[in-house]
Amino acid sequence: MPSLEDAHALDAADPLAGFRDEFAIDDDDEDRIYADGNSLGRLPLATVERLRRVVEEEWGRSLIGSWESWFDLPQRVGDLVGVEVLGARPGETVIADSTTVNLYKLAAAALGGASGDRHVIVTDAGNFPTDRFVLQGLPGAHVHTVRADPSADDVAQAIDDAPGRVALVALSHVSYFSGARLDLPGITHVAHDRGALVVWDLSHAAGAVPIDLAANDVDLAVGCTYKYLNGGPGSPAFLYVRTDLQEQLQQPIHGWFGAAEPFAMQQQRYEPAPGIGRFVSGSPSVLGLVAVEEGAAIVAKAGIGALAAKGESLTAFLLDCIDAELGGFGGDDGSDDFDIITPRNPTRRGAHVSLRHPEAWRICRALIERLGVVPDFREPDVVRLGLAPLYSRYADAWHAVQRLRTAVADRVYEDLPMERRRVT
Ligand SMILES: Cc1ncc(COP(=O)(O)O)c(C=O)c1O
Repeated sequence: MPSLEDAHALDAADPLAGFRDEFAIDDDDEDRIYADGNSLGRLPLATVERLRRVVEEEWGRSLIGSWESWFDLPQRVGDLVGVEVLGARPGETVIADSTTVNLYKLAAAALGGASGDRHVIVTDAGNFPTDRFVLQGLPGAHVHTVRADPSADDVAQAIDDAPGRVALVALSHVSYFSGARLDLPGITHVAHDRGALVVWDLSHAAGAVPIDLAANDVDLAVGCTYKYLNGGPGSPAFLYVRTDLQEQLQQPIHGWFGAAEPFAMQQQRYEPAPGIGRFVSGSPSVLGLVAVEEGAAIVAKAGIGALAAKGESLTAFLLDCIDAELGGFGGDDGSDDFDIITPRNPTRRGAHVSLRHPEAWRICRALIERLGVVPDFREPDVVRLGLAPLYSRYADAWHAVQRLRTAVADRVYEDLPMERRRVT
């Protein structure tokens, strides 16, 4: 059974330990374990200063004149995220809109560019709601849903079931629900082999696991910047399109910021900008973009290799603690036990661990309100523990599991209401 001393020894040897100091963590916050970095990353100290500067000096004093330097932010920050985090080539990534809107743009473009009778989109039952909803709402699309967390064989089978009709495979690399990491190289390959494009939602993967979009010839990708990239609540998302597809695909929201000459206002017809710029639509969210730049810069400084290695080992340590401490609550029928739904194979999981329990909601609330641990809850019965490798400690994993044990062993949750809050 892992001990607190083991955790301290791992923290002492952690090459990324110093990065914790780059985040806003109050002294009174020291005892609170933040286990929701997979949902909303912590606030980098550099972001506070950068936002102050942009607001007070660039907006406050230079006013409209600042647009000259703000104009290129979507591409500049896009390249930072694309090259350093996603393994994309320069000029393949922009930061714009939300993941939802970007998925719509890319899925519509893929369908529009598909030849002949290709109107089917393959996705999985476990995909994030926004992904499933966007695909279902796409005009002319027929969505074929496979089982949650599919293998490459499952996807190949689904495409073969509708021969010549699948235009696009749309999946999340790391599942928000189970934490399973899908076989991105294998699935991309079987899709290409059968003439379909792929769009990967990398929201729970970017900044947590190694990604190499160029080496795997990935067509399209989108993802959130407010999770492991620490861009802040609602920060604009990334959108990636492989270079050779940029001129072939037409995204449906033709706006002036994606036009070749935004200020040629007498022009009557939309002329798309060359390259990835055409996937931008309206005015970029400047405050959000500079926050993404600061958050992604820390991730780049730490290096994806080191972050992914720590993510893997921290998650393994967390699973060891769970195995040692959280078994055997269930009496004869085991009904009160936790069920770990995250894969054990480290190459098949992301950086969060999902635990299923019939009282998951109230346990989650007890942890937040009474025991100083902040996980989150996902319907119908899952507690997610997301210890972001950039600022989380092995001791956090150890304490979180001890407190989880207390929550269940002492039934700390029993007098809490069953009703869900608006945000879970
Ligand atoms: C996999 C995935 N896709 C998309 C989203 C949400 O996208 P948006 O920023 O458009 O709300 C989330 C949010 O948690 C997510 O986990």
